[in-house]
Amino acid sequence: MRRIRWMFAAALGCAVLTTGCKTLPPSKPLSELTAEETAGYEVYQARCARCHHANSTRSLHGPGLQALYKQPYLPSGAPANDERIRAAIVHGRNMMPASANGLDDQQLANLMAYLHTL
Ligand code: HEC
Repeated sequence: MRRIRWMFAAALGCAVLTTGCKTLPPSKPLSELTAEETAGYEVYQARCARCHHANSTRSLHGPGLQALYKQPYLPSGAPANDERIRAAIVHGRNMMPASANGLDDQQLANLMAYLHTL
């Protein structure tokens, strides 16, 4: 009896460890996005998707952005917060081009709202 309980605890521990360490929380499904987030998704498709996967952390031209805000740090090591992410978008970063031109304040706000759903 005691042994069975121990095995159960060990199995549960493994499950918690593997899901806790390897699986990122899923993005909000597209069908559940608000109007603002959907508008941001469209900006993302037009301006970011060619270089960044939204639903994976695999690199395309830049790092995958899944769970961007759900992890403490950005790929560069900077804290994952609005200030840093907005700066990367507006000013660019190394090989990433600046998007300041052609993105108005509303589009940027929508895009940021969408990035929070990843
Ligand atoms: C031409 C390809 C390209 C496009 C378009 C692009 N990026 Fe990037 N992005 C990159 C590359 C390359 C990096 C890695 C930069 C580095 O740290 O060297 C990057 C890095 C990032 C980072 C991480 C910054 C950090 O501090 O680690 C974020 C967030 C990001 N991009 C978001 C976006 C968003 C949102 C858009 C759309 C507005 C976008 N990118 C458009 C290529 C691109």
